[in-house]
Amino acid sequence: MSSYHIKNLEEYYKVYRKSIREPELFWEEIAEEHFNWHKKWDKVLSWDFKKPEVKWFDGAKLNITENCIDRHLRTRGNKTAIIFEPNNPDEEALHITYKQLHERVNRLANVLTNKGIKKGDRVCIYLPMIPELAVSVLACARIGAIHSVVFAGFSATALATRINDSGCKMVLTSDGSYRGNKTIDLKGIVDEALTKCPEVNSVLVVKRIHSEITMLAGRDNWLQPLLNEASATYEPEIMNAEDPLFILYTSGSTGNPKGMVHTTAGYMVYTAYTFKNVFNYKEDDIYWCTADIGWITGHSYIIYGPLANGATTVMFEGVPSYPDYGRFWKIVEKHKVSQFYTAPTAIRALAKEKLDYVDQYNLSSLKVLGTVGEPINEEAWHWYNDNIGKKKSPIVDTWWQTETGGILISPIPYVTPTIPTFACLPLPGVQPCLMDENGKEIKTNQVDGRLCIKYPWPSMARTIWGDHQRYKETYFSAYKNTYFTGDGALRDTVGYYRITGRVDDVIIVSGHNLGTAPIEDAINEHPAVAESAIVGFPDDIRGNALYGFVILKETGKDRKQENLRKEINQLITEHVGPIAKLKKIQFTSGLPKTRSGKIMRRILRKIACNETEHLGDTSTLLNPEVVQEIIGHVL
Ligand code: WTA
Repeated sequence: MSSYHIKNLEEYYKVYRKSIREPELFWEEIAEEHFNWHKKWDKVLSWDFKKPEVKWFDGAKLNITENCIDRHLRTRGNKTAIIFEPNNPDEEALHITYKQLHERVNRLANVLTNKGIKKGDRVCIYLPMIPELAVSVLACARIGAIHSVVFAGFSATALATRINDSGCKMVLTSDGSYRGNKTIDLKGIVDEALTKCPEVNSVLVVKRIHSEITMLAGRDNWLQPLLNEASATYEPEIMNAEDPLFILYTSGSTGNPKGMVHTTAGYMVYTAYTFKNVFNYKEDDIYWCTADIGWITGHSYIIYGPLANGATTVMFEGVPSYPDYGRFWKIVEKHKVSQFYTAPTAIRALAKEKLDYVDQYNLSSLKVLGTVGEPINEEAWHWYNDNIGKKKSPIVDTWWQTETGGILISPIPYVTPTIPTFACLPLPGVQPCLMDENGKEIKTNQVDGRLCIKYPWPSMARTIWGDHQRYKETYFSAYKNTYFTGDGALRDTVGYYRITGRVDDVIIVSGHNLGTAPIEDAINEHPAVAESAIVGFPDDIRGNALYGFVILKETGKDRKQENLRKEINQLITEHVGPIAKLKKIQFTSGLPKTRSGKIMRRILRKIACNETEHLGDTSTLLNPEVVQEIIGHVL
């Protein structure tokens, strides 16, 4: 018997040692005992980080939706699978049982099939946090189509780039979305994006806000009438373990976003196992993760991980500040939430408000608090612990990435003693290591270095869609035979990890990963701009904010700088999305460059962070004089 649910520290160490000594046996036992397979695997793991190629449970046959839905029907058919909490607190919450979810997923699976979508086709999902989003994801998985969810805060350009990169044939969207007291015209954004996406021949539209939209004959259909006509049964497509389940885009240091490809069996086993342990999930718990399904956290820990365990998972359509800053806590009380999982940026924003917003609600149902997406600062950790957890609910600071598919380093609640700001210990099966600047592994404790993982885990991304070479270069070339995370970390005397942040040019703003390239491209679209560079600098609420250094063309120099700033941010909103707007924009005559012409973002970052006394050696720059000019005009 494998130990599926770790109950104390001694057991954790025992299980962890086994998972390292006999990783294949460890995962095989879990896969065997806790999931349904049409056929078992031929080999648990084959891997080669040089190629790189990783296969888990190769040869096995399954459908992930049978594991997330069908197998619960007999024992949990009338149990709530999804609680939908609408944006408007006066609109009634919806409780969708496993039986109802099954029927809804089947109907949509039939609609997709009737529209010609087949196994392996890519389907883009651009929906707000409404039940149809979860149903769409699961319907794709049921028919073997590869879903590519695009966060519904991205602009038309960003959406088009993602649709074209993965070759989606269909888009699922809604007329619009609610966000606090605003509405967003999602269908309008899709229409604009599709002017650049010739391969999309079908758009299915959910009616949510009842706005006036245009429907293109032959391409666009309202979803509801099609669902009404569709059959409520659907035989799931039998997939191979290594068939792609989904593509999810994440930003890189350079170039376009990377379409990370996750496959079926390993992803299922790992997200289910980690959900159970990291959230100490028990049968009657109500679990709520506030992330959007447009991000990996929503994929793994709103949909797949919880449903694979037969859990009740909450989907919230709105924002933490609407109708007031007590909304999260009101929802916790209303649905008696047991596990609450959110991001440090949300905690910091709420901690700034009056405690009244917290204290008027009964939070006694809470048993576990989680955080994810960026390092949590000590102050936010204590506020969360004192005021939300009342010092009784353990905080799990979960470290992971879009690429890792599931949580890799995290305390296990009621098992691992926690230290504020530390993600603590690797979960079973995870072998982290720290590398020094010269690419050597640091074996001792009380050190910091670059965080790598030296052995495969089941839910790791297998490739970048359409660009395996980039996958190899980004993750497997910096250090020999190890996966490089892009993060720095320190390890304390007992082996606990603390993640210190990105060591590459990815900037995390409010928990969203932003690559510099698409933002700089957007700025450079402005006719008055010659060149630009952006860096992050600390922000109390959002973790980081963006600082842009912009060189103007001659023609731009007479323009009013305030107008230019507005226009630049407008372009960023259009090309990337409002989350990427710059907080500060400094106009300059040059940017510090190496002799090979590469912008030295490291120097710009120090200037933006007001750390100019530690600039390091600037003499190797092509144009060292520009550094003084920039420092002289820093904002
Ligand atoms: C950062 C989110 C510190 C990290 C699941 C990582 C964190 C990036 C933590 C991935 C944490 C995530 N502590 N930093 N607990 N969790 N990060 O792909 O820099 O959106 O590389 O996945 O977020 O962000 P992504």
